[in-house]
Amino acid sequence: MSETQSKGLIARFLAAPPDSVGKTIFVAVAVCLVASMIVSSAAVALRPVQEVNKLKDKQMNILQVAGLFEPGQNVAEAFKAFEPQVLELTTGRFTDQFDAATFDDKAAANDADLSRALDDDPAGIGRQALYRTVYLLRDEAGGIDKVILPIHGYGLWSTLYGFIAVEENGNDIFGLQFYQHGETPGLGAEVDNPRWKAMWNGKKLRDDAGDLQITVAKSQPAAGADFYVDALAGATLTSVGVDNLVRFWMGEQGYAPFLEALKAGEI
Ligand SMILES: Cc1cc2nc3c(=O)[nH]c(=O)nc-3n(C[C@H](O)[C@H](O)[C@H](O)COP(=O)(O)O)c2cc1C
Repeated sequence: MSETQSKGLIARFLAAPPDSVGKTIFVAVAVCLVASMIVSSAAVALRPVQEVNKLKDKQMNILQVAGLFEPGQNVAEAFKAFEPQVLELTTGRFTDQFDAATFDDKAAANDADLSRALDDDPAGIGRQALYRTVYLLRDEAGGIDKVILPIHGYGLWSTLYGFIAVEENGNDIFGLQFYQHGETPGLGAEVDNPRWKAMWNGKKLRDDAGDLQITVAKSQPAAGADFYVDALAGATLTSVGVDNLVRFWMGEQGYAPFLEALKAGEI
């Protein structure tokens, strides 16, 4: 196109009435471009803030599950009470192969060298990381008071991510809490109901014979009330998911080797 031709096009465009098809499309495209530029710049600019908030939320959840959360507290400061350690799941021992302060659990779970595909996968997670960051809470004498273990698994609509806090004997549950899920408000999302969460406090994982007995069900199992958390009313499928994921993570493929070592005082 020659210079005179393109000048002619611009002149014709400018001379066209404001409601002409050309001008309407031009304005619509320009508005879309400007709006998408604003949205993407905001997303990029706010990413560091989102990361900080995500970390704060995770720390708050760990404080909550350990019973140390107080509204208005400085979360980062209070979180210093915990000692993060990277645990090798199969051996149940901590490893210094990674720096616990920077170990990326999510990346490890997707890294072929640091994870394994699950054949037996009751929690519906597909792959399992070989290493997990766990958080220790020590007593004044320096012994272990509680361990906070990350857990996750499929409910009805979503993967639920959370923590379980276990006492120093490796068997008594102090608390359970999910910090991310997509279950239905009023049904599966009742996993966040403080009354339901409170039911976990004091429950036991294994019986005297060492068999894993903790169960989320509609009625009490033969093992007894110590091992029983009532299923959520109207949300049996989410409850089954929670039962599966808790039993998976507390079992041999999960933290059982670590919990046994903790019980034996070897940690
Ligand atoms: C829109 C909708 C959302 C639902 N969300 C959940 C849910 O988040 N978790 C769940 O277990 N069941 C949910 N249900 C119910 C299940 O389909 C199923 O009926 C229920 O888990 C059976 O539990 P019940 O035997 O305690 O009634 C939902 C149902 C509908 C129609």
